[in-house]
Parts: sequence; structure tokens; C-alpha cells
Amino acid sequence: MNINQEIRKKIVLALDVDTTEEAKNLIRELKDYVGVFKVGLQFYTANGTEVFDFMKEIGAEFFFDVKLLDIPNTVKKASANIIRSGASFYNLHALGGAEMMRQSVEGANEAASEIGKKSPIILAVTVLTSISDSVLNNELEIPHSALDYVVTLAKLAKESGLSGVVASAFEARKIKEACGKDFKVLCPGIRPLWSVKGDQKRLATPSFAINEGADYLVIGRAVTAAEDRVLAMQKIYAEIEEALN
Ligand code: C5P
Repeated sequence: MNINQEIRKKIVLALDVDTTEEAKNLIRELKDYVGVFKVGLQFYTANGTEVFDFMKEIGAEFFFDVKLLDIPNTVKKASANIIRSGASFYNLHALGGAEMMRQSVEGANEAASEIGKKSPIILAVTVLTSISDSVLNNELEIPHSALDYVVTLAKLAKESGLSGVVASAFEARKIKEACGKDFKVLCPGIRPLWSVKGDQKRLATPSFAINEGADYLVIGRAVTAAEDRVLAMQKIYAEIEEALN
């Protein structure tokens, strides 16, 4: 199959496996179809950074889904370390405030230019999708709907120099309207109609997410749990291609 590179750039594959060996197998099998591999905290806290070195060796880009939240100086230094580890994407909580976000961008860009890499894509997590309106209002005492607050925090992230946000496909359109089309939106919770739902509640199909303006789609079990992973990926490509046309 001729791989469409425009689509490939949009595909972020979640390496949600238990061991480095399993992650390496997934990377070897799917690297031609994947723009960015995503390493999350569950994998990282079990396995450390060996898989980072492997991805660097083979020239695969990766997203460290680390969700930083700390004082600005600590976040700045951690951000620089993340870039030195080889990641070209990472994220932080917009709830850390503008100064924390600005320092993160500064630390990351300094480290990138030190090692001769292009500027990283730094994404904000706004309101976690596990937080409902009622948790936001009653537990956290934030008197807004989750959707409105997502947009507020996305704007703050943009003003602080971030590249975009991690958000549900159901929020993507509003974020693009508020922050402009160049502000990136990376969407998890993606399921083609033919795939298993798992524990995700609000799921979007790849074509829905693309039509709502998503720049990147996080693909996890829709591919990793499929019997034929390459075939599952090819079906997702076909769906995105149709949505883009
Ligand atoms: O297998 P699945 O497609 O559900 O994987 C989704 C990936 O995206 C996981 O790595 C998960 O941690 C991440 N994620 C998510 N929902 C969010 C934020 C991140 O599923 N709201």
C-alpha cells in the first residue's frame, strides 16, 4: 500500500503495553503508518526510557504524555530534560498557569536548540475528560461548564506560547474557533465504528474527529487490540482519506 504521508503525520499510536519488548514490536510493525508514538505514564513508570533510545535510533518521533504540573522553575528544567531525552512532543497541565507554561516553552526550546532539534510541539491538558461538570462545580468549586473551561484554558495555553491542546474531538471545533486553525488539537478517544469500545465513554470516529478539526488522532486499542493491526491501520487511513476529501 502507498502510505499517505499527510495522514501519517496525524497518527499518534499509544504504546499502552507492559514491556519495552512489546513496545518495540509495535513500533517495528507499525512505524511506516505512524507519525508519532505516544509513551504514557503507565509505561514509563514500569519501563523507564529504554524505548526512547530505541525510537531515537530508528528515527521515530515520540510524544511523552507526561502531563507536567509543578512550580515554573521545576517544570522548566523537566521540560528541557524531556527534550534531551529525544521527545518531540510532550504535554503539561494548563492549570499550572501562564508562568509555568511560558517557562516550560523556554526550557524546551533552549534544550532543542542546544541539541540542534526543531522546536517541540508542546500541548496543554485542559480539563481531564474524567472530570464531569459536577466534579468541576462541586468538588473543585470551579463555576463553569467543562466545555467553557476547556476553551478558557486553551486560550491561556495559546497566549503562553504552547502549540496546542489535548482534547476530545467533541471540543475540537470550539477550540479552533477560539484559538485559530494553527493551534493544534490532538484527540484521544478515537474508535472506528468496526472496533471494540473498551472503557472509553464518549468516542469519536476518525472521520468525525477530522471533520471537527483534529490535527492529530491518538489511536490505541482500535489498532493495538485488532487481530490484524496493519489491516486495522489501513482501514483507519481509508476513513481519514475520505474525510479529508
Ligand atoms: O486504547 P485507547 O484508544 O482507548 O487509548 C487511548 C489513549 O489515549 C490512552 O493512552 C489514554 O491514556 C489516552 N487518553 C484518553 N483519553 C483522554 C486522554 C488521554 O484515552 N481523555
